[in-house]
Parts: sequence; structure tokens; C-alpha cells
Amino acid sequence: MQKIRLGVNIDHVATVRNARGESYPSPLRAALLSEKYGADSVTIHLREDRRHINELDLKLIRSKLKIPLNLEIASTKEMLKISLRQKPSFVCIVPEKRKEITTEGGLNLNHKKKFLKKMINSLKKNGSRISLFIEPNIKAIKICKELNSDCVEIHTGKICNLINKRKPYKHEINRIKNAVNYAHSLGLEVHAGHGLTYESAKVLKKIKNISEFNIGHFLIGESIFIGLSKSIKQFKKIIKKK
Ligand code: PXP
Repeated sequence: MQKIRLGVNIDHVATVRNARGESYPSPLRAALLSEKYGADSVTIHLREDRRHINELDLKLIRSKLKIPLNLEIASTKEMLKISLRQKPSFVCIVPEKRKEITTEGGLNLNHKKKFLKKMINSLKKNGSRISLFIEPNIKAIKICKELNSDCVEIHTGKICNLINKRKPYKHEINRIKNAVNYAHSLGLEVHAGHGLTYESAKVLKKIKNISEFNIGHFLIGESIFIGLSKSIKQFKKIIKKK
């Protein structure tokens, strides 16, 4: 039986810390507790503007965490240099706009394609597994394969919004299913993430061949009320394959 992995994104522990310019709550503590409570990996996004996670967080988490660290970065020379130095097990390349509240969509793979290819190759040679964050789109998946990525992460923001607003999502789920099947048929490992809640995770986990979910904002929000241990366990229960 295929096991679906849960990656816990702890960026928003750093958001709360930075809101007051204090040293707490500690992202390192959140990372180590996520490991203890059953996360399969921990995700952090080192943004160019360092609005939540900073380089010290990255260093500390990288040195203490035993499960894989999934580092999300934009495709820039600075981020490549940092990732080559820190050697995270997983790297997920994401688009980044300074003014966005969160990662609003998938990568435009035709932009800076040459640099992206070079970046992927050097990170792979350095021992990191590479994932590209994309829209559920066949053309994008073809390019991911061309670029020699190991995985694709499908942006689930749109379907999660539809589910939250109780709007029909059949068209969007079919788009995701087609994308997942196509990526899987090319030998790419398929991940999914963005905006997932208990309810949307229940819908998406029914799609075959998604092997990893990366969940942050809702999971960290839930942990305010029920604790990190319970929110991780609840998501693990939901995504467990029957
Ligand atoms: N996956 C990727 C690639 C992301 O950029 C994010 C957001 O940082 C997530 C998953 C998690 O999204 P959310 O915080 O909405 O659960």
C-alpha cells in the first residue's frame, strides 16, 4: 500500500513571532514537535523579503531536524547559493512576488527557463530532491519533465477556495486529476498543497497517485485551538490511504 506523506509547513509560527519582533514562538520548536507528532517532513519557505522564516531558522532547523526538510525558494541566484550551502533533503521551487500575501499561483516555467534548468541540475547534484510548484496544467508538467525535476507540486489554491465557498468544483478536480495522471505517467512524483483544510484534504486525498501533501496555514491555525499534535494527527488520519 502506498503511504501518503504529510509535510507540515511551519512558516506561520515565524509570522506570529515576527509580528512582535520577539524570539518566540520558535519555528525550531515547531519543527521538532512536528517531527515528534508524526510529520513526514517539515516545510519552510525562505522568502526574499524574509517576512517569516529567516536564515537562522533555516540553519537551526537544518542542523537539528531528523526527518527531511523541504525548503521552498524562488528561482534566484541568492536562493540557489543558500540551498547549495544548506543541502536540504527536498527543495521546492516556487514563484514569488513581493506584494502577494501568499504564493498565488504556479511557476511560469517559460520565464528564466535556462536558469531554472541550471538551478535544478546543481541542486540535484548537491543531493536535494527537486519539486516545482505548478498549476494543474499539462503544458507545465511537460516542461517539468524537460527540466529534469523529480517531482511536481500541484497548486491546490483554486479548488480549496471553491470548497470553502461551497461552490461547484467538479471542473477543477478533473483538471487536477488529469494533471496528476499525466505527471505520474511521465514518472514524476506528485505532491499537492496550498490552502488545504480538513475538508479539502478529504476531497483531494481521493485522487490516486498524489504521494505528498504540504499543509501549513490551516494546520498551524488549528493548533491554536487543539494543539499541534492533534492537528497533525487529524491530517494524517485524513490523508491515510484506505
Ligand atoms: N506548498 C507550497 C509550494 C506553498 O508555497 C505553500 C504555502 O507556502 C504550501 C504548500 C502550504 O500552503 P498553506 O499554508 O496554504 O497550507
